[in-house]
Amino acid sequence: MDTLRDSRTAGDKPIILVLNGPNLNLLGRREPEIYGMTTLDEIDATLQEEAEGRGAVIVSYQSNYEGALIDHVHRDGWSASGIIINPGALTHSSIALRDAIAAAPAPTVEVHLSNIASREPFRHHSVIAPVARGTIAGLGPRGYVLALRYLLDMIDGEKH
Ligand code: DQA
Repeated sequence: MDTLRDSRTAGDKPIILVLNGPNLNLLGRREPEIYGMTTLDEIDATLQEEAEGRGAVIVSYQSNYEGALIDHVHRDGWSASGIIINPGALTHSSIALRDAIAAAPAPTVEVHLSNIASREPFRHHSVIAPVARGTIAGLGPRGYVLALRYLLDMIDGEKH
């Protein structure tokens, strides 16, 4: 794959890359007491709608494979104006994904549906957090929307 090509053009509309890691394809069915009933398709549809209303484009990708997520950061993260990532369990272990995010020029917001700080100790540490602009955790699917609003506000020139 030609990793650093400018693969996505959307006219002059900003592109927000939304990445979801392992097991997040199961949202709606997976431990609903922790992750809720909203599916990933529903989250994506909400983000698309919000982005459309603000003149932006969402490029959304989910994978259960670390390398595939990294390839997408290389491919689309470099032409995106912002990245939203829920790395799933890779949050706690993947130095390779962390390095890919660190290398991408776009600001990244890390999102978790659950409050990882209040769960098992092995979820308390994120290797992604230090290279993210910020982290939203524990607010369910709304976290993705808040991350998108933040990035679009930044693009619109509102410095927060
Ligand atoms: C998660 C939290 C992670 O610890 C977990 O491995 C996930 C989902 C969340 O969105 O709350 O897969 O990232």
